[in-house]
Amino acid sequence: MKISIVYHSETGNTQRVSERIMSGVKKIESTDVKIMSINDVDNEYIESSDIVIFGTPTYAGTYSWQMKKWLDTCKLNLSGKVGCVFATENYLGGGADNALLAIASELLVKGMFVYSVGASKGQPYTHFGAVCIKDGEKEQKERAEIFGERIVQGVIELINKKR
Ligand SMILES: Cc1cc2nc3c(=O)[nH]c(=O)nc-3n(C[C@H](O)[C@H](O)[C@H](O)COP(=O)(O)O)c2cc1C
Repeated sequence: MKISIVYHSETGNTQRVSERIMSGVKKIESTDVKIMSINDVDNEYIESSDIVIFGTPTYAGTYSWQMKKWLDTCKLNLSGKVGCVFATENYLGGGADNALLAIASELLVKGMFVYSVGASKGQPYTHFGAVCIKDGEKEQKERAEIFGERIVQGVIELINKKR
């Protein structure tokens, strides 16, 4: 299974969380994963991915304008792929949930199957996707890793059920 992690990051927080998510993804055998900044994407890799995970900082309670611009001008065909989202924020309640829903709505418009893992696997819950607070505690870092691992597990379970 091929997974792309596409993020926007100005000060490194979202990039660090992307790396954590990648570590989680790699815990599942036979995964091929690449992380990319929106400033340096590998279009071919994304187009051949089964899952694309998008990461954004929270800006004024929604997702960053840079990520919005990237998605709005993205010519890649993302339809039929699984789309997942995560966000970083400075403060608990800083609006990351809204950022996740806003970015997820754009993925729906692009015809992606949006998956958050949600509360289905117990703690840590990722209702709309993973949220990590800047300079987060160990628990925050583990949450990102678990999110990555669970996304791939969830998609594999779905594929196996269909066979
Ligand atoms: C323009 C701007 C707006 C921001 N708005 C919020 C906000 O509404 N809520 C919040 O918790 N953090 C806010 N932040 C903080 C960032 O979301 C946070 O530091 C994030 O982790 C930065 O990600 P990065 O290091 O990947 O760039 C804002 C930062 C900037 C630059």
